[in-house]
Amino acid sequence: GDAITVSDLAQKLALKGGDVVKALFKMGVMATVTQSIDHDTAVLVVEELGHKAVRPSDSDAETELLAQVEDAGQQGELAQRPPVVTIMGHVDHGKTSLLDYIRRTKVATGEAGGITQHIGAYHVKTAKGTISFLDTPGHAAFTSMRSRGAKLTDIVVLVVAADDGVMPQTIEAVQHARAAKVPLIIAINKMDKSDADPMRVKNELLAQEVVAEDFGGETQMVELSAKSGQGVDELLDAILLQSEVLELKAVPDGRASGTVIESALDKGRGPVATVLVQRGILRKGDYLVCGVQYGRVRALFNETGEQVAEAGPSIPVQVLGLSGVPDAGDDFVVVADERLAKDVAQQREAKRRESRLIKQAGNRMEDVMAQM
Ligand code: GTP
Ligand code: MG
Repeated sequence: GDAITVSDLAQKLALKGGDVVKALFKMGVMATVTQSIDHDTAVLVVEELGHKAVRPSDSDAETELLAQVEDAGQQGELAQRPPVVTIMGHVDHGKTSLLDYIRRTKVATGEAGGITQHIGAYHVKTAKGTISFLDTPGHAAFTSMRSRGAKLTDIVVLVVAADDGVMPQTIEAVQHARAAKVPLIIAINKMDKSDADPMRVKNELLAQEVVAEDFGGETQMVELSAKSGQGVDELLDAILLQSEVLELKAVPDGRASGTVIESALDKGRGPVATVLVQRGILRKGDYLVCGVQYGRVRALFNETGEQVAEAGPSIPVQVLGLSGVPDAGDDFVVVADERLAKDVAQQREAKRRESRLIKQAGNRMEDVMAQM
């Protein structure tokens, strides 16, 4: 086959000639930068370089972080926590209306603030218990859940319009929930409409093997109207009942950890992240690592825009004080001091940069190999 000099190959890979010589040496090929190597050897050394490049480097700060998290995990007793609910359903079946109705009527707005902010999640307090709702597109909650192996959602409320019945996205939601092993509660919506047909909805769901309790199955189905609010309290009861069955628990004290639900750069306030606390208590003044960002919690806000001093398991809260904007789906974890928070964040950033470079180098290697 064709031959290429070591220095030409190095140039094409944007590497130093010496690095290619070293890689060749490791493969048992003695060559100087001016010598030529054959096609097969070149492919092998490119693979060797690529392989070496993608091997993750050791990270001391991550190890220390893990030790801290594990330490914290061994302290504290598990206690009941509120359920985290995602609302899914076919287009126009009433997801937003239902969330809005619950928010409007159930989220207490403070005297001072007055305006309910959109923070991607909110929690409601009922006489029987607290429920948190994720106000994100349902599939997004699942995508980040799946890719991280972490569960954000405990229960899916699947909204099905009683005048329209089961539609393609209804079936998709059923499949998502089933794959993620998250229980479903069916909200049969638009019951105020004259052509509402809840029986049809139940029968069509039966065809998807989602069986209503009155059909001898296990799936709670609540008839309601997001417009009038009729039946909404029954839905909240059903959620709390399901939550009891699931025996949802978390350690309610100690250092907090959880997941970013939403984030943005606010003109006045800087980076703002809405996080869901999944264990421990997040407090003002805490140091935390959040994806590749870090910082000290300058302020916490709830969904009504009021400052709060802390947030426990299943409670969503807005965090101010991060070094930059994290990504939705990033984990956050509270650490003992600023030094570790900064070290972990910087190492992660360096790694991210490195993997971007490796990707670029990989693309170049492919180009080189294609030319040979
Ligand atoms: P997408 O976000 O587009 O998928 O829709 P959605 O599921 O969020 O539905 P949305 O809440 O926007 O409602 C769609 C339409 O149905 C709107 O015109 C609502 O006013 C109406 N609607 C929602 N719930 C009810 C209900 O209980 N009764 C009646 N009569 N109309 C409703
Ligand atoms: Mg909507």
